Amino acid sequence: ELLDHSGVWRFRELLPILDSFGNAVTLREGNTPLYHLTRTARSLGIDQLFAKHQGMNPTGSFKDTGMTSALSVAKERSYKWVACASTGNTSAAMAAYAARAGLRSLVLIPQGKIAWGKLSQSMDYGAVTCQLNTDFDGCMKVLSTIVQQAPVYLLNSVNPYRLEGQKTPALEIAEYFDWSVPEHIIVPGGNLANSSALGKGFREMKALGLISRLPKISIVQAEGANPLVRSFAQSGGKSIEPVAANTRATAIRIGNPASWRKAVRVIEETGGWCLDVTEGEIAVAKAELGLEGIGCEPASAVTLAGLKKLKAAGHVEASDTVVLLLTGHTLKDADYTIGFHRGTLLEPEEAAQVAGEMAGLRRDA
Ligand code: F0G
Repeated sequence: ELLDHSGVWRFRELLPILDSFGNAVTLREGNTPLYHLTRTARSLGIDQLFAKHQGMNPTGSFKDTGMTSALSVAKERSYKWVACASTGNTSAAMAAYAARAGLRSLVLIPQGKIAWGKLSQSMDYGAVTCQLNTDFDGCMKVLSTIVQQAPVYLLNSVNPYRLEGQKTPALEIAEYFDWSVPEHIIVPGGNLANSSALGKGFREMKALGLISRLPKISIVQAEGANPLVRSFAQSGGKSIEPVAANTRATAIRIGNPASWRKAVRVIEETGGWCLDVTEGEIAVAKAELGLEGIGCEPASAVTLAGLKKLKAAGHVEASDTVVLLLTGHTLKDADYTIGFHRGTLLEPEEAAQVAGEMAGLRRDA
């Protein structure tokens, strides 16, 4: 019964990963809202625009859907320790699910390059939290030697059971549209597991006859962390060169993505695109979503910034239904938002003056 309250485990017939569902570790993840973005749709000239808000998961990011599945496997296989390298959200989710399961967790994060909210979460959930003087890709290297030497279960997205859970938002989207699928799904690209997992979800639904065609899945990267975009430009997606990544959307500050081959396959098989957006475009898109009452972290806002470019290029038609995948909650990185809006400092008298001017407003004007 508990499992039916999870947006992941209610699809358990499609998650063949446990010997016993009694081992499932759940925090009631999934079942995230799909919001209609009416004003943004109007200004872009698109009829049907939605945001699937994965930031509304228990630890505030889409990673929870993959951690409930992979942590359950770790528990079933009697591991005592789990570990990951992270730009912050994977570690927050892993630490929470490990604590629920009664396992210890080890987190490696790049010092100074993740948002405070995320760092605080892994501490709160009792993870051994190590900040390394390197970037995400450097943390991955250190971790891969650790897991070779110790009985520690690796929970980065190379873990196939993560993808099983992370495919379930695709099922929720298809379910929402009564098993007819939207024309476009737009996702951020970092380590490229999310795009791979969604592609897997839609592919499996088509094979089962639940849906009749695939949505075009497009991947948007930050300009300063765009190895997949470069890969398509240089080799048509046949090889990838690691880049020195830099972006204020720290969640996707990744130069050497693990799941790039799967992501290339998803783009090619669905007919989607891979593109990048500037720091300014990300910040403006995030603020625009905010004005719809939808908060998200900068890495999520790349989806709207990317949609604008796809629309301008003629890849998205006015009559298309589009779903943006918002991956993280706005409170994950409050510093970014405050930095963008730069709160105005007023003396109390000045505030009174603002109030005085507002007193002249008419209720219906
Ligand atoms: N959006 C957010 C908020 C993320 O945290 C991440 C990845 C992505 C998008 C990109 O997803 O890697 O599957 O392509 N964060 C990882 C982490 C790397 O460690 O939290 P991806």
